[in-house]
Amino acid sequence: MSEPSLVPPEEAFRDPAKQAMVLTALYIAQEQYGHLNEEAIGRVAERLRLPVSQVYSTASFYSLFHTKPTSRYHIQICEGISCALCGGAEQMTKYLEEKLGIKAGEATSDGLFSLETVQCLASCGTSPAVRVNDELYDDLSFDRVDRLLDQLAGRV
Ligand code: FES
Repeated sequence: MSEPSLVPPEEAFRDPAKQAMVLTALYIAQEQYGHLNEEAIGRVAERLRLPVSQVYSTASFYSLFHTKPTSRYHIQICEGISCALCGGAEQMTKYLEEKLGIKAGEATSDGLFSLETVQCLASCGTSPAVRVNDELYDDLSFDRVDRLLDQLAGRV
């Protein structure tokens, strides 16, 4: 049995290695639970001996993590400043909303798609960009979006 850590949680959280472990642990927990619910956050906090509030804060900061259930294909469209300036982000969001018949923040009734706007997908030079689950799609056009949605829906 290992010795309990004598490092207070606040000190441990300032440790860069510990912070890196939080991200990895959250990613694994999300894979296991489907999203980062209260139990998943609590398990990560417990295993890393960190306050739940700090683990939740990290989980809710990164767009890669979901604290609420998502649909089978969770589409995140970037509306960050680079994408807005390069053009296309706002129009692409409207196009996706029309194609899916939902607004950003909603899910289709069949549970296939959910749509969310986020601030940056680290693809600033190749906007507009979306992430579907863990996959990035950039340099989008309306035609590419049509093909992507058809592919995800199994229509092609
Ligand atoms: S601002 Fe859109 S990818 Fe960075």
